[in-house]
Amino acid sequence: MRQRPLGQSGIEASVIGLGTWAIGGWMWGGTDEQDAIDAIRASIESGITLIDTAPAYGMGRSEQIVRQAIAGRRDQVVLATKCGLVWDTGKGTPFVMQNGHQINRYLGPESVKHECEQSLKRLGTDHIDLYQTHWQDSTTPIEETMSALLDLKREGKIRAIGVSNATISQVEEYRAVGPVDSDQEKYSMLDRDLETVNLPHLLGKNIAFLAYSPLANGLLSGKVTPHREFSGDDLRRNNARFSDENRQWVANVLREFKPIAKEHAATIAQVVIAWTLEQLGVTHALVGARNRKQARENTMAGDLILSAEELKQIDQAIEQFSEAAAGR
Ligand SMILES: NC(=O)c1ccc[n+]([C@@H]2O[C@H](COP(=O)([O-])OP(=O)(O)OC[C@H]3O[C@@H](n4cnc5c(N)ncnc54)[C@H](OP(=O)(O)O)[C@@H]3O)[C@@H](O)[C@H]2O)c1
Repeated sequence: MRQRPLGQSGIEASVIGLGTWAIGGWMWGGTDEQDAIDAIRASIESGITLIDTAPAYGMGRSEQIVRQAIAGRRDQVVLATKCGLVWDTGKGTPFVMQNGHQINRYLGPESVKHECEQSLKRLGTDHIDLYQTHWQDSTTPIEETMSALLDLKREGKIRAIGVSNATISQVEEYRAVGPVDSDQEKYSMLDRDLETVNLPHLLGKNIAFLAYSPLANGLLSGKVTPHREFSGDDLRRNNARFSDENRQWVANVLREFKPIAKEHAATIAQVVIAWTLEQLGVTHALVGARNRKQARENTMAGDLILSAEELKQIDQAIEQFSEAAAGR
């Protein structure tokens, strides 16, 4: 698996990272712990080093499952987690409810340090490789948050600092205080807005861009059939993006990638992930996997290199179908 630097931290991480949001169960209709552990171990065995989690993913559950899965393999993993979505204080601003608990966006310095201690315990480690602010908090000056993160770095509890869901001006506010090693943002074939904002802004600044939800929550895996139903709190249930009409539209686009997939003996999901990694400024793709099979399939995309001509064909197919949909 190809490795790329996490900013100026000196840490190299596999271009594909395993995302463990769904593994926490919350907003994904629950989780199967054994499948989740198998997915994490299969990812590591197939060459993934970067594992991304967060306290908010199941209120600690994802981090705890990661701990179980990496027991005895901590040194093979670049462990990334986050701070800033909290449920133990009324401070900050309301974000979302989870299992009857109010989750707030809050990045006060005392909270960041407390959260770090909690994550270290849940992950069963003495250091976090990449510590990221999950969502930005309008109630705390960024300077205060960044000072707390720099303290944690000096203490050896975290090795690199990242941000997520941040505007470019927020990125710059962090950078005015100390080095930012990564920016984690939503980016996929269906979510390309940042091609004119964060991506060009970060170019040449030695900051990794971690694309999250590159399969658009599974919609681009090529396996969401018209009959697939989502249950419980799965975010895809009653979601316009997963409407019958949109599934059909996506299926039409993905069909165009089949000759490319065939040429590389690859799957559609692998072509989609490989395309993501070739986009200007994208350094890593964080892909979710719920079981061993998905983990192996996704990991293998890390070594799939698409030619300039193939990338052009993919872009043309997306454009062609988008124009047709707009004119509908
Ligand atoms: N910073 C943030 O605010 C933020 C937000 C979102 C995500 N993230 C990070 O990015 C990671 C990835 O994003 P994501 O989980 O939203 O979405 P994703 O990677 O776009 O899609 C993951 C989902 O697609 C399905 N899938 C994955 N591989 C598949 C395959 N080979 N074949 C068929 N289905 C497959 C699985 O769901 P099913 O099996 O249930 O269909 C899986 O949970 C997260 O886990 C998290 O680490 C961060």
